Amino acid sequence: MVATDDAAQLTTVDALPENESFLFTVLERDGSKEEVVLVNGGDCIAAWRNFCQHETDQRLDRGFGAAMRDGEIICPKHGSMFDACSGHCDNGEANGSTLISVDVTVEAGNIYLTDRTCEFLHEGGIEEDTDEDEGMPSSSSHLTF
Ligand code: FES
Repeated sequence: MVATDDAAQLTTVDALPENESFLFTVLERDGSKEEVVLVNGGDCIAAWRNFCQHETDQRLDRGFGAAMRDGEIICPKHGSMFDACSGHCDNGEANGSTLISVDVTVEAGNIYLTDRTCEFLHEGGIEEDTDEDEGMPSSSSHLTF
């Protein structure tokens, strides 16, 4: 059995050019939802919990792609830059912090979620989940990240 046997396919390497990101939502073990941003850092394909380490309510990808340059993810609020491959930040307000990783695996050009702590729910951010509501206005909790 290989790591990707029962793993959810997220996208393909071809569909994720260098310095581009792909946002998706996962279900945590405790039943909560969390956003993950998958990135192509040039030297790596990596995935990170979609929030800054300076202010954890600040999303890195606000639903229209993370700002990236030269293999770094740029926080939209104060501009700290995180290495897209290591998740580490050595500058600005988030200096000395590291993003929280989510395990992904690249196999035969496909990218899979292989993190055992969460499971794939849907592409896009938490608020983009319309399956449960069938297009009805959201009446329950409104999560903000
Ligand atoms: S919130 Fe990201 S650097 Fe301040």
